[in-house]
Parts: sequence; C-alpha cells; structure tokens
Amino acid sequence: MPETTPKGLTGLAFGGDYNPEQWPESVWQEDARLMREAGVTMVSVGIFSWALLEPEPGRHDFGWLDRVLDLLHTYGIRVDLGTPTVVPPAWFYRAHPDALPVTAEGVRHEFGSRGAICHSNVHYRAAAADITTRLAERYGDHPALALWHVHNEYGVPVSACYCDSCAAHFRTWLARTYGDVDAVNEAWGTAFWGQHYTDLGQINPPRATPTVGNPAQALDYKRFADATIRENFTAERDILHRLSPGVPVTTNFMTALSQCDSIDYWAWGREVDLVTNDHYLITDGRRTHVNLAMAADLTRSVAGGAPWLLLEHSTSGVNWQPRNPAKAPGQMARNSLAHVARGSDGALFFQWRQSRRGAEKFHSAMLPHGGTETRVWREVVGLGAALDSLSTVRSTRTEADVAVLWDWHSWWAQNLQWRPSEDHDPRERADAFYEVLYDRHLTVDFAHPEADLSSYPLVVVPALYLTTQAAGDNLRRYVEGGGTLVVSYFSGIVDEHDAVHEGAYPGALRDVLGLTVEEFSPLLAGERVQVTGPDGLALTGDVWTEFVVERGAETVWSYGDGLTAGRPAVTRHRLGEGTAWYVSTRLDAHGLDAVIGRAAEDAHIAPRTDLPRDVEVVRRTGASGSHLFVINHTATDAKVPLDAAGTELLTGERAAGRLAVPAGAVRVVRLDG
Ligand code: GAL
Repeated sequence: MPETTPKGLTGLAFGGDYNPEQWPESVWQEDARLMREAGVTMVSVGIFSWALLEPEPGRHDFGWLDRVLDLLHTYGIRVDLGTPTVVPPAWFYRAHPDALPVTAEGVRHEFGSRGAICHSNVHYRAAAADITTRLAERYGDHPALALWHVHNEYGVPVSACYCDSCAAHFRTWLARTYGDVDAVNEAWGTAFWGQHYTDLGQINPPRATPTVGNPAQALDYKRFADATIRENFTAERDILHRLSPGVPVTTNFMTALSQCDSIDYWAWGREVDLVTNDHYLITDGRRTHVNLAMAADLTRSVAGGAPWLLLEHSTSGVNWQPRNPAKAPGQMARNSLAHVARGSDGALFFQWRQSRRGAEKFHSAMLPHGGTETRVWREVVGLGAALDSLSTVRSTRTEADVAVLWDWHSWWAQNLQWRPSEDHDPRERADAFYEVLYDRHLTVDFAHPEADLSSYPLVVVPALYLTTQAAGDNLRRYVEGGGTLVVSYFSGIVDEHDAVHEGAYPGALRDVLGLTVEEFSPLLAGERVQVTGPDGLALTGDVWTEFVVERGAETVWSYGDGLTAGRPAVTRHRLGEGTAWYVSTRLDAHGLDAVIGRAAEDAHIAPRTDLPRDVEVVRRTGASGSHLFVINHTATDAKVPLDAAGTELLTGERAAGRLAVPAGAVRVVRLDG
C-alpha cells in the first residue's frame, strides 16, 4: 500500500509553491530563513522547471535543484517535488511540433505559455516518462522529499486535443469500449441525420461541424479525453512508485466546478495516493465562503472522506479575473481554516515569493513585492502559528450531515448543445441547493449517484440529467430503505449514451418519484411563475416548468399561473420506509429552503436555530478527539453553544457553555473526552 500522507510531516502542512529558479541564488538563503520565520513546513518545487533541468535534449542540469533541496532540508522544510511535465522545453516542440494541441477548429497552439500538450502524443509521453524517471532516480530518497507532485492541474488550460494522433487514439478507445463499429452506431444513435459509420476508421474527434454534431459522440470524446490525460498521470505515478517507494504521489486537482470542468474527479480520486486541491475565490459578487465550503466538501468527497490537502490558494488577490480584489484583513486565515475544517490537513499557497516578471507578477504571494513590512506577511506569520497549534486535527475526518449527488458525466451531457433551455445550468442548481444546506448549517458530502447512500438521512439531487438505470435503482433502494430524497427538474432523463430512457420522463426516476412528466415547458427570459402550497405559502419559479402527472406522489405545491397552472409543481412520494420529493421548477433560495425544510422534517433533521447566519460550524473527529471549528464570516461578534467543554486551540483558553467568536475570527475547540 502506498503512503497517503506527506512523508515526515507531523502537524498540518503550511507553505506554498516555491520557484527559486526565478531568483538569483543569493536570494535563496533569505527565502529559507523567512520560511522558517513564518513556520513553513512544506513547499512545492520544480513544477515548471523542465527547461532548466534539461536545457538540451539529453543534457541535464540538476545542480541547482540539488542545492535547493539541500538548503530546504537544512532548514527542516519538507518538499513536495514536481515532475515538470506541464511545460516541455522549447527545444522539445522544435523537434516535435505535433505535440502541440489542436483545437476543434483545427488551430494548433504555440509554445510560450504553459500546458500546451497533446496527451496522446508518443514523443511527449516518452519525454515525460524520461524526465520523471531521472528525477525519481536522483531524488527518490532525498531526505527532504515528502510528496511527489505530478504535472500541474491536468485538464486546464487544454482539456482536449483534436489532432490526428488523438483521432487514432480515440478509435482505439472506441474499439476497446464498444468492440466494433455496429456497437458505436447503436450507442451514438447514428441513424439520426445519416451519421452511420461502416468502419471505425471513418470516425474522427468531434471537430467543428456546420451545425450541431452528434451529442453522444461529443460526450464520449469528453470521456476519452479525460481517460487519455489520466493515462499520462498513472504512467508517471507508476514510475515514481517503483523508484521512490514510500513517498506518496499526488497531482493537484481543481474540484471547484468553475475552474476545471473536464476532469472526472471521481475517477481521479481513486488513482492518487493523496487528494490535493487548488482553490481560488471567484469574486463575482456571490458569497465566496460558501463557494469555498462547497469546493472543500467536494474535494473531501473525492478523497472518499479521508483527509486531503489544499495545495494552492491565494494570500490575497489573484490576477486572472476581470477585477481582483485584495482579501480583507483576516480573510486569508478564515479561508485557510475553512478548508482545514472540511478535511484539509494543511494550507498551502500559490506562491511563496511574488514574481517580478512573467504573467503572474500581480498575483498575491506569501512574501509580497513589499517584503516583510506588509499586512500580508504579518498575516502569513500569524497563520503559520495558528496551524502549528492545530496539529491534533491532522488525520481526523470531517463529519457530514447530508449528501448531494454530483456526476461529471451528467454535467458534461447536460451542457451539450440543443437542450430545452440554455438558461438551465446544472452548476447553478448545485450551487443553489448547496447554499440552502449551508445556511441550514448542514455539512455536505458529495456522492456519486451509484454510491451507497444508506448512511445519509437526506440526499439532494440538484440536477442529474444523465442518470443510469443503476443510479435510478440505487435511489429507489435508498428511499425504500427509509431515506429522504429531493430531486430537481430535468433529472433522470437520459442514459450513459445521452439516449432518452424509454417510456415517459423521468425514465430512471419515475418509480421513486411516483410521477411522470408529459412535457417540459421552459420559460422565456425573465418570465416567472407563482407556486402555491401548504398554509398559503407562495413561492416563485423561473427558467423551467413541467407538465407533471402524479402516479403515486401527492402534490404539495402547485403552479398558480402560466401554461402549467393548476398542475403539480412540487410533489412528495411515500415509498417503502422513505420519501421522495420532486421540484419541477427553478425555485429561488427562499423556495428551495421551504422545500428542503419540509424534506428535513421527513428526514428527522432538526433545524439549528441557535446559530447565526454565516457562522460556520464543522466538526472533525478521529483518534486525537473531536474538534469543533467555528468560523465567523460576519462583522459581528457571535456566541455559539458548545455541547461539551474543551480547549480552544488557537488561544489556549478553556471553552464551555457559549463560545465567544469575535467578528471575522475562527475558533477551534478540542472537546474533552
Ligand atoms: C493555479 C496554478 C498556479 C498559478 C495559480 C494562480 O491554477 O496551478 O501555477 O498559476 O493558478 O492563481
């Protein structure tokens, strides 16, 4: 069994990406000294260094990296060592221009940025294996080595390549997946628009077509591209396992759904020794701490509930959004500890020292352009001390209350062209349901639709357009066994090939929901419907309505106006020992909360009326005890009831009764017993 925690680390990890190659060697000593001053325990090194490590084909220069690793070791700083395969050197592309990826429109990218890789290219694969082998041979048992960091953020900025080499690789993938061309025709429904193939050799990637292409082909290409990229990760991982046993191997994910949408992290989570994640706040006016909590919960879920590691976030502003606000005082620590609360065994940043040159010079760092006489530096030093006091949190597990289903394949399918409404966005529904659960102070696990759900009293399905029959059966079993299910509209519609399930909508979920949908009736932009229900409670929907027919379910809210007036809008179905709710329109936050409130009653989940809005309470438990994280995101001091006494680890004070958490502060109580 490979190791799953960074070798040699005893407490939580703290540090960042360290790019010493951007600085004269005279600066390195100061870096190490300041790292120690800040309490840094681990840095990520060498991620973009291939051109320096191999300046000419076959000629290597490891001297500088030797000195960096030795220096860090002297200062007791552990190293997360990158394989630099995200940016092959310029000479490599001169020799192999076909390793540059091609877009669906046939444009070949150029060298001069990063991540310009065709993942099926044999020359790239051979060169990546070679540099990985050399690094593993040289540093595999270096005393500073804690973790291997393969590549960087697979899937961005290029999620798929459409070149001839990928076309050939795709055909091999199709042959392996389907056996022969007849099975491909069947799966893709090529009888439509005369797309029939008589030989696998006639099939290409879904390149630019005059109008919409075959959706099942496009969906399979996403699966293929993801699997092809994963082949390259596992190839490097296997080399590292062989040559550097005992050191865990990771690659940094970007589970936050808006930052990378092409990687099936359920599949990738099974391949890494330790799940690591990068997270950046999207400052679009929404509550960034809710989005952060969601990304952290999703990352923990991808890790199967085990501790994971936040490998990158920012000390303050980023530089790649249209507007990049600085973080407010205290926000960096709140963000970091919110990730820790939800399962991260540490907090690392991009990057250690802010670059003077290059595309990211205006991105914040631990050591800003302004040096140590800065607010950011002082907060970094404070965070290092805070994390140091939380060492007993390491290896404990976050406790979740409810599950939300998420499936990248369904998301890919739903985002293909020519759907009933372009205003329906599955990501938006996932966010909206998550936010309602967050505001109810419920900690969320994400789950794959075919996973065992029996431990959760409540399961929410925000949007699951592609639902396999196996997933439908799973949800039925869950409800029959006593679970409470809430399903949002346009779920259960197609199978794994984007073919509509036979019979009435929602094919895979008809039985569990106790209804059929005769027709979708999306609304025009800005159009709204009233939904009336119990106790005269009126809700508002937009974007989507449906003609729902009860077949066992009871109507709880019905449409008050519009084409579907008088028809069921929100239904409830008693099945076996459990209950299944269905929401057929896009309710706003108030409406969703009303439905979730009713479902929570069915699930016997008592509301937490004792906690203020935006005061986050999360628990991590394990052999070292139970730790209660309380994060006050508001500008007002809060008091939070404790169900047991304990020690507050950041202040060292005893805590009992009602815990005072100042505005913007975090408290972590290790409960007695
Ligand atoms: C990450 C990336 C880092 C850096 C950072 C800036 O996605 O891994 O190398 O570019 O973004 O926010």
